[in-house]
Amino acid sequence: MPPDPAKGTNFIATTLATPLSSSEAALRPLTFADFAGQPKTVERLKVMVGAARRRGEALNHILLSGPPGLGKTTLAFILGHELGRNVRVTSGPVVEKAGDLAGLLTNLEEGDLLFIDEIHRIPKTVEEYLYSAMEDFRLDIMIDQGPNARSVRLSIPRFTLVGATTRSGLLTAPLRSRFTLHTRLDYYDHATLEGIVCRSCGLLKVEIDSGGAQEIASRARGTPRIANNLVNFVRDFAQEKANGRITRPVAAAALELLEIDAAGLDEMDKRILRLIAEHHRGGPVGLGTIAVAVGEEADTLEEVHEPFLIQEGYLQRTPQGRVLTAKGYLAIGLKPLAGGDQQSLL
Ligand SMILES: Nc1ncnc2c1ncn2[C@@H]1O[C@H](COP(=O)(O)OP(=O)(O)O)[C@@H](O)[C@H]1O
Ligand SMILES: [Mg+2]
Repeated sequence: MPPDPAKGTNFIATTLATPLSSSEAALRPLTFADFAGQPKTVERLKVMVGAARRRGEALNHILLSGPPGLGKTTLAFILGHELGRNVRVTSGPVVEKAGDLAGLLTNLEEGDLLFIDEIHRIPKTVEEYLYSAMEDFRLDIMIDQGPNARSVRLSIPRFTLVGATTRSGLLTAPLRSRFTLHTRLDYYDHATLEGIVCRSCGLLKVEIDSGGAQEIASRARGTPRIANNLVNFVRDFAQEKANGRITRPVAAAALELLEIDAAGLDEMDKRILRLIAEHHRGGPVGLGTIAVAVGEEADTLEEVHEPFLIQEGYLQRTPQGRVLTAKGYLAIGLKPLAGGDQQSLL
């Protein structure tokens, strides 16, 4: 049956990995037209959606990867919306047993999307069942134990698996190879984030000028979710301390209060940089050591903080460990010294 976009999309949240706050849901783009940036990914997805619609077939399986807050969940919902299909949402750690997967898959309708967030955290025993589900749209499930044990074959509707992961490197090769498209989201540039900030302010009915939008965009760590969070805070600040209008000085003062510096580095980013500079002479230092010293999970450092610090050139990843760059020293007010000797305060 060809998709009927007029039917609209039901977002059936089986289990949400991260509950959507109402403000986040209100700002989430619903169509490709509303989704700013990520031109390569959007182009690839549009090609696949167009072809699937023309053929009246289910979309091929898609893997979205990239740091948190860049739009993976948003894109999964957009795919459903553009195709006029249901999107069922679950997350890797929640699908504990093959039976959980069977329950999800047998309840799908032909052409539905199954969004599995944090798909790298799906247990290995369940992952193997996913292979035949993705490839042949069937599940061979063992029921009973001992002499009565037998395998039952379940047919499942042709569905589309949309997987999201912050750690595509942790996905096994067999699982990765079953996705037709693997596309990676990148950090957003300032101009694109500025557009997102203005759109959000429009939806929230708060007045902002271009200086205010620039100020917020340039401190959002290249991340729309952070940009929207900053918009919400700056909006409150503008209401309490100014006349409700977001200008550059108002935004700067609000972000000062949040201790977010001009480059968008937050407290944790700076603690990481300071630790490497002051206690390890600029590195190299292992991730585990950094994690213990700053009191954060190694996984979180690797998924959330490091990608941005590396991309922006504050940090380098070497086989021996993490090394601070000259830009990294400058960001915490230290002068990089040749030879990695004791650093002096500027
Ligand atoms: N390209 C974009 N344009 C506008 N807003 C975006 C865009 N990407 C993400 N957002 C906003 O950022 C928030 C976080 O995006 P989300 O899809 O939940 O990120 P992820 O799933 O990658 O962690 C969403 O609520 C959405 O409002
Ligand atoms: Mg998400």
